[in-house]
Amino acid sequence: MTRPDDTLHRRLRAATAPAHEGLEHALDWQARVATRAGYRGLLVRFYGFHAAYEPAIAAALADDAFLAPRLRLDALAADLRHLGLPEDSLAALPRPDPVFLAGPAAAMGALYVLEGSTLGGQVIGRHIAAQHGITGDGLAYYRAHGPRTGAMWAAFRARLDASSDEPAGEEAVTESAIATFEAMRAWLCEADAGEPRPAPGDLAILSSR
Ligand code: HEM
Repeated sequence: MTRPDDTLHRRLRAATAPAHEGLEHALDWQARVATRAGYRGLLVRFYGFHAAYEPAIAAALADDAFLAPRLRLDALAADLRHLGLPEDSLAALPRPDPVFLAGPAAAMGALYVLEGSTLGGQVIGRHIAAQHGITGDGLAYYRAHGPRTGAMWAAFRARLDASSDEPAGEEAVTESAIATFEAMRAWLCEADAGEPRPAPGDLAILSSR
């Protein structure tokens, strides 16, 4: 008999728990955001990741009304501008190879990872605010849905649980979520994804803010 609390979301959370733990550990986020340059370097990597995944999710999900408030590439661009990245550098930032998601279930799996990151992101955002005195501008990505985080997450979970009645759909969601966690870990934590070594002039821009 299926227990009422045995939902797709709960199974997905259990199936991806090791991937979440692995990413959280490998990310070493407190060290990465300890300096403004490090924080900016991390946002640069997130920018590339979202630039590759958001269009792929949009194409496979085909539900702009649901997706639009969850897209965060513009927030990343705004934060990077605030942290002194020249406008014309945005398009040239590194990004992973283009991503293909086969359909709505794969799109929901990838979006689960991006949307779930807004939860831990609240903790990280508060830390960055306290550490660097960045409160509004410059913190849009981590602020994400702000006070609406709980409601947005509840709506996402409801959609997830309603989206896949068949085992094949659930398998596609789960495979895609795990693959997205792994891709994010590789992209954020690979050898050359660490704190950039800014030119002296660049450092002056960062430290004057
Ligand atoms: C960027 C990397 C990260 C991604 C992609 C990510 C992804 C996720 C996902 C998908 C969930 C939802 C789990 C569920 O189904 O309930 C989640 C929850 C959570 N994450 Fe992360 N996470 C990341 C980094 C972190 C870090 C570094 C922390 C530590 C501060 C963290 C702390 C949490 C917490 C506390 C929750 C649970 C919140 C709650 O249940 O209310 N995450 N994360």
